[in-house]
Amino acid sequence: VQPQSFDLIFFGGTGDLALRKLLPALYYRHRDTQDCSGWRIIAVSRQELDREAYIERVHAACLEFIPARDFDETTWSRFATRLEYLQLDGNDPAGYFELTRWLADSSDRIRVFYLSTAASLFATICGNLAAAGLVTPLSRVVLEKPLGFSLASATAINEAVAKIFQEHQIFRIDHYLGKEAVQNLMALRFGNSIFEPLWHRIAVRDVQITLAEQVGVGERGEYYDKYGALRDMVQNHALQLLCILAMEPPSSIDPNRVRDEKLKVLRALRPFTPEDVRHKIVRGQYRAGAIRGKAVPGYLDETGIPEGSTTETFVALRVEVDNWRWARVPFYLRTGKRMQDRMAEIVINFRPVPHAILPGNDTGDVNRLVIRLQPDEGIELHVLAKVPGADMRVKPVKLDFEFGETFKTRQWDAYERLLMDVISGNLTLFMRRDELDAAWQWIDPIHAAWAAQGDAPKGYSAGTWGPTASSALIVRDGLSWREEG
Ligand code: BG6
Repeated sequence: VQPQSFDLIFFGGTGDLALRKLLPALYYRHRDTQDCSGWRIIAVSRQELDREAYIERVHAACLEFIPARDFDETTWSRFATRLEYLQLDGNDPAGYFELTRWLADSSDRIRVFYLSTAASLFATICGNLAAAGLVTPLSRVVLEKPLGFSLASATAINEAVAKIFQEHQIFRIDHYLGKEAVQNLMALRFGNSIFEPLWHRIAVRDVQITLAEQVGVGERGEYYDKYGALRDMVQNHALQLLCILAMEPPSSIDPNRVRDEKLKVLRALRPFTPEDVRHKIVRGQYRAGAIRGKAVPGYLDETGIPEGSTTETFVALRVEVDNWRWARVPFYLRTGKRMQDRMAEIVINFRPVPHAILPGNDTGDVNRLVIRLQPDEGIELHVLAKVPGADMRVKPVKLDFEFGETFKTRQWDAYERLLMDVISGNLTLFMRRDELDAAWQWIDPIHAAWAAQGDAPKGYSAGTWGPTASSALIVRDGLSWREEG
């Protein structure tokens, strides 16, 4: 049930995320919700703008990011009445008094502070909110990723925020958890009985998680160069997917039961020794190349990238989960920018038949479950079927379930679901502090080893599947990446 009344205060209100994702997501929710009379959305930013100018900017963003079939001016005008703009420097305590005045009559309403700013500002903003008396028992804070740069910096931020907000008021967002297909992974595992008996080392040969993007770093060079692919995509998105895939069935969908199970997976990840980092992880950086036939520059020629930067834009890892369920099953993770396709998927390869008696059954094709997260959400089950004709010959075919075809309704964007979860106070799809700590604890030694080894990342041409070493990483185990089904 969606709560009727809330104040949603966005810090970073003129930023890319707010305009590209958050406000379009709210437009949809507003359009599809019957009574929105209690909604108030206050965008906050340092920029000198009046309300009209801000609304004009949001309008332009909605026109750009919402498909024309979903957008109409009457609905927009109604949505625009919910929007306010306040010029405020998050660092300046004096600026918060105006916000206090705006919120004076609404301390009994749900109040969400969404911090879509650099993580280095989180502690200051929370401190200033508290000093201005703005944090009520019904307040929540949303922290965008990347939450920190290492375990130490994440701990400092978490500690500062914990002085102001209790853990149940803190929503650490990972938008991958809001994707319909990721929730469908939970539905697949825990809504059906047929998969669980196969969901372990005896039946599973290997797991592959690919998060491939065609875009480059674009305008975000300055941020990206500091973080790199491991912090930007693996520490959060890829590990969260791995957790949902590998966790034990929780006893209920209650947020803490789910997060307890995810935490156990993070703690069971085998730590990388410096030696492992050299042999089980591949770092890459894109060079000039072509995406869909169009020439694109290399990473070092992008705006805001320092000369000779060794930041990785691609990473592939061979990961092991040291517990009974997954002992010795390799989990291959890879993510990169400027890859051949935009594609995010999880592939579970089952073990081959123990003894092949049918022609065609000895070619290495195995049963395979593919969960496609994007671009077209769906689930495929690859099985071997008989080829028509006199011979008893088999070949792989797939049972294909496309969400878009089965459910004709529009799929919610991840941020629609997550924003509504924040407002209704549901923490299931948000990271708990101990999960974040465990993830950083596992990531930090990789960075330390890279720094000590001082190797440059391997080059790959834009528009490919990454450095050749990425194929070698998996071929060494007698396997290969699934490039397409
Ligand atoms: C963000 C990263 O968290 O996820 C970006 O910071 C990346 O670098 C983006 O492009 C990918 O998200 P999606 O939903 O487009 O796969």
